[in-house]
Amino acid sequence: MPGVEIASQLVEALRTAGRVVALTGSGISAESGVPTFRDAQTGLWARYDPQELATPEAFARNPRLVWEWYEWRRDLVGRAQPNPAHQALVELETRAPDFTLITQNVDGLHQTAGSRAVIELHGNIRRTRCSQEGVIIEEYGDGRPPRCHRCGDFLRPDVVWFGEMLPPGALEEASEAARGCDLFLSIGTSSLVYPAAGIPYEALENGATVVEINPSETPLTPRANFVLRGRAGEVLPELLAMSSG
Ligand code: OAD
Repeated sequence: MPGVEIASQLVEALRTAGRVVALTGSGISAESGVPTFRDAQTGLWARYDPQELATPEAFARNPRLVWEWYEWRRDLVGRAQPNPAHQALVELETRAPDFTLITQNVDGLHQTAGSRAVIELHGNIRRTRCSQEGVIIEEYGDGRPPRCHRCGDFLRPDVVWFGEMLPPGALEEASEAARGCDLFLSIGTSSLVYPAAGIPYEALENGATVVEINPSETPLTPRANFVLRGRAGEVLPELLAMSSG
């Protein structure tokens, strides 16, 4: 594998781990052509800051603008295909005695790849729900934000916006898995956005081996036991191949 050396101790740790947890961020979908959350936006959306569109206040102020931004992103995601990093995690689910996949991504690509149990901390852009009643309604409108047939309020993407609570139970389930695991993989996340960014530290505090897979440094880097400075779509399949058999 050009450029990234994988330590034999890490290969052994993966081979012998009973409980494995992976936490993914938008970097795992970068090689599928989905821009990461903090990447510069392109085209018409280049002048907007995602952190200012992904908020309940922005939706209240200008539902159409926020809805159109999500339509653009839903279209991008809808055309994307899982990459070898997503596939590697499908394989890990079948191979590890106990495996938990936690994602901050809203693109649904883990499920498309075939991962069965996925804890979605930030929801899923492919679903829509009523802003008032919370019920999931599969409707995407015609460019304008559609209204709920039952209460008349706006429908919104079923994702977590800045300042909102995570889906009930998701963080608890993720924390529990992190506290009980032997090996924790942090993949393609900037480790900046809490509470998700706090999950690897729970694993560390409970003695797990923590591995970061990311081409760039993050706040987790100095605490990780192993750092694989490369692209997830290259590094993860290589790590799995080395530890199989
Ligand atoms: P970010 O955009 O903050 O970070 C993406 C990370 O992926 C960066 O650290 C990149 O270095 C890394 N990266 C880029 N290409 C990669 C590749 N090919 N392989 C591996 N890593 C790569 O995205 P997140 O950490 O996912 O929340 O952001 C976390 C949350 O911030 C998002 O879920 C979103 C946002 O607020 C909400 O919308 C609630």
